[in-house]
Amino acid sequence: MGTAIAVKGLTKVFNGLVAVDHIYFKVKKGTIFGFLGPNGAGKTTTLRMLSTVLKPTVGTAEVGGYDVVRDDLKVRKIIGVLPEDVGVYDRLTPVETLIFQGKLYNLSSEKLKERINELLEVMGLREQRNMKVGKFSKGMKQKVALMRALLHDPEILFLDEPTSGLDVMSAREIRDIIVKNASQGKTVVISTHNMWEVEKICKYVAIIHKGKILIEGKKEEIEKVTKQKDFEEVFVKLVKEETNFGNFSY
Ligand SMILES: Nc1ncnc2c1ncn2[C@@H]1O[C@H](COP(=O)(O)OP(=O)(O)O)[C@@H](O)[C@H]1O
Ligand SMILES: [Mg+2]
Repeated sequence: MGTAIAVKGLTKVFNGLVAVDHIYFKVKKGTIFGFLGPNGAGKTTTLRMLSTVLKPTVGTAEVGGYDVVRDDLKVRKIIGVLPEDVGVYDRLTPVETLIFQGKLYNLSSEKLKERINELLEVMGLREQRNMKVGKFSKGMKQKVALMRALLHDPEILFLDEPTSGLDVMSAREIRDIIVKNASQGKTVVISTHNMWEVEKICKYVAIIHKGKILIEGKKEEIEKVTKQKDFEEVFVKLVKEETNFGNFSY
């Protein structure tokens, strides 16, 4: 299996604050990669650089073989993004939201119709398709945002804390949808501060703390190297000691 994402020394400095500090990692095609770290670790900043919203201060990254700075428009075509602040329009319905998004991606009206139907089905939002999103629960809004990210059938997904703040059932549904997408060949990067989530759905993990990657690789390998029995232990140990085990999966 090939490489979907290659991050090479990616760095972002905001007015002297090093938010992301020379990070390196690779994501294999068709896998779920968990970007795990506490608040302020640099997860959102990294995802924003990878999704071409933010320009790196130093370093590069390739997404689907394209450079995020030089080929930003090509990157945008092949990625789907769930940003940290979901930002769905309260006054639109799910269908209207998707029609608007479809126009941005120049989907034909036939293709658009087909995708809207598929996604309403997958998300279980068919009955609510013509209701204003403003009336939706947080979980339902998140589904609308996820539909928007998936509409143009992107090969790579960047999901920033996709289940954060959701009730148990909604979080579970969102996770199932993520797993299903990966099993259909999509590459998924999720950021999370939820260790259990990583344990449950991610095959590969990077732990980021204060802008630096402390450890990165296959989930089981990480547990072996740190001699910890579960992911919470790994996380606590690394963050406490700020140990840098580096990369060992490639
Ligand atoms: N646009 C910005 N301007 C200045 N500082 C920022 C900006 N975005 C993020 N930061 C800072 O960068 C650091 C990393 O933030 P962020 O990437 O949002 O972390 P996380 O998503 O892991 O919680 C934090 O200290 C945050 O305050
Ligand atoms: Mg964040």
